[in-house]
Formats: sequence, C-alpha cells, structure tokens
Amino acid sequence: MMSLTKRIFAVAATGAVALSLAACAGTTAPANDGAAASADCNVGISMPTRSLERWINDGEQLQKLLKDAGCTADLQYADNKTDLQISQIQNQVAGGAKILVVAAVDGEVLAPVLAEAAGQDAKVIAYDRLINGTENVDYYATFDNYKVGTLQGQYIEEQLGLADGAGPFNLEPFAGSPDDNNAKFFFSGAWDVLLPYVESGQLVVPSGKSPSSNDDWASIGIQGWVSSAAQAEMDNRLSSFYSGSEVVDVVLSPNDSLAIGIIASLKSAGYTPGESYPLISGQDADKANVLAILDGEQSMTVWKDTRTLGKQVFDMIQQITAGEDATVNDTETYDNGKKVVPSFLLDPEVVVKDDVQSKLVDSGFIKASDVGL
Ligand code: BGC
Repeated sequence: MMSLTKRIFAVAATGAVALSLAACAGTTAPANDGAAASADCNVGISMPTRSLERWINDGEQLQKLLKDAGCTADLQYADNKTDLQISQIQNQVAGGAKILVVAAVDGEVLAPVLAEAAGQDAKVIAYDRLINGTENVDYYATFDNYKVGTLQGQYIEEQLGLADGAGPFNLEPFAGSPDDNNAKFFFSGAWDVLLPYVESGQLVVPSGKSPSSNDDWASIGIQGWVSSAAQAEMDNRLSSFYSGSEVVDVVLSPNDSLAIGIIASLKSAGYTPGESYPLISGQDADKANVLAILDGEQSMTVWKDTRTLGKQVFDMIQQITAGEDATVNDTETYDNGKKVVPSFLLDPEVVVKDDVQSKLVDSGFIKASDVGL
C-alpha cells in the first residue's frame, strides 16, 4: 500500500469551501439563506452501539459540531442490531434528513434502505466503516484501516526482534467481526507483517488458529467485537493447546474490546504482568484499555482520535450542503463492490505507556483523573 502522504490529494479545494459556512450555520448567515441552509443541513447520524466508548464519543462529538453550526442532527444508536439500524435510518429519511452519516452494524445489508434515502435525494457518508454493495454511498471517512493493522504488526515485530531473527515465540492471533468491513483491513495490515514470520517458524501458533492468507481472516473473527466472546475463545485456546510450561508470548488483538476479554482470560489462567506476560495489541484508546496499558496488562493501542474524524465529517457536510464536492484523499482503496467510494483517510498512531500523558491526556482525549494520573 502507498503511504497516506503519497495518496493525499485534494479533489476539492479545501480553502474555497472551507468556511462558506452559510450552508450549515443558520446563525451566521442572513435570515433567508439561514432558513434555507438549515433545511439542507438536516443530518441523520446512525451509530452502531453504545456498548463501546468510542461510538458514544463519535456520535456526541459530531452531533455537537452540527448543532453548534445550526444544523438539525438526529443521533441514533442501533444496539448492534441491523434491523434497528435500518428502521432508524428510515425514520431519519422520513424526518427530512438530507445527509446521512452511517457507521454500519453490518456493512452488507444497507443497500435497500440507502436506495430509499437516495430516492429522497439524501447524500450518504459512510462513517468509519464502509457500506458495501450499493451505489448510494457518496463518501467514506475513516482512519486508514490497513495502517491500523500495520502498526500493530510492526509493534510486535519490533518488540520481539523478529527482523533480527529472534524466536520462536508463541502467537495467538484474533480478528474482528466478520460483518465489519474494517476487520479484514485491520487483519491484512497486521498479517502482511507477521505471516512471513509464521512461515519462517519465528512465530508459532499453538492453537492452529493461523489463517494461511489474509482472505481467511474471518475464520478467527469474533462476531460483534464482543469482549466476552474473545475471552471464551482465549479460554478455549489456553486450556486446549497450552500445557506444562508452554506460555503465550504475544496476542494480536485487533481492538481494545477484544483485548479486554483476552486480558481477563489470561488473568484467570494465572498470567500476571511481568517478564513472562505476553505482548497484547489493541485499538481505540478506550479508558479501560489505557488503564490496562498503565498497569502493564496491555502493551499498546492504536489511537484514532475520534475528534479528528468528527471534524472531517463535519467539514464534508459543510461542503455538501454548500453544493460542493467533499474533499477526499483516496480514490483507490475502498471498492464496495459497486463503486470505489471516494474516501478521506486519517492517520492512526501507536500509544504505549510512555505516551499516555503526552498524547492522550495533554491533547484532552482523556482526563488524567479518568486513568489515575
Ligand atoms: C472500528 C474500531 C472498533 C470496532 C468495534 C471498528 O469498525 O473501526 O475502532 O474498535 O469497530 O466497535
């Protein structure tokens, strides 16, 4: 994959549109324009679940940006249920939404409801997760999902000294929810780094849960990204495949919710932070995981500053309501089966223990008091 910087180009001149805010900001526009603009700036935000901290932050941040700019912004959470998400989107369209921002529970099933939305001239921005199998997704805004996985794989490679020939180490890899289009990108990014070491024997997977190619990722996917399911899977691997003095050296966890389950399983099997405790990756910088990083129970997380994503989508909405094309920086990567969706990819970054203060706290992403600092 090309680096993000190489791929960056602006389809629409940001400056030109940047703050032709009138479209969204009824309060700063002349009265007549403002009234028209408010009607156009009617946004339905559809988030997958409140069960993960990140989606609560994502939804509330974007809704606030929009409301502060005078837009109508209805925010719904679908409790990880596809039927509920579909009916929530239908209600938003019936309520006059002209722009839909959707983080899909299941990226494969929204084509019919998005066809209804297109029939009402609503534009659709896929948020964080791509929506597949439909022409009716206009833009995609996300963090570079492949890079998330690359960062996890490279972290493991560096920490273990794999490039210098170290090993063998026992690895247990996990992947995300099979219905989430992101999950295969996360896994591919990591596996492109790690699979060569599995093939060379420097990484050994005692459970055998080791996809032979990126395409097999779903065989180790955890449906719904559920922590307790990851815990049960790890319990099973530990009890069935580890005996005597054999220990896990490293766990590839694609995100923080799975890491929580994996950590719980390791703890109940007697692993305690210290020298023989495994490396464990993650993603999201959820508070519970930042605490785990500070306590030595998790090694790293890939931080995706959801405020940046919200701001990017807010800018896109402004551009769309102003009748402009939204700015994108990738028109190659995200083919949804019907079209390559113009995308804006943001850069994720690694956070380890030493970065918690400087990256997460100093930037205001989390409060020092939330993580005992
Ligand atoms: C998101 C991750 C999140 C996961 C589970 C993915 O689509 O990109 O940030 O951890 O869903 O909610």
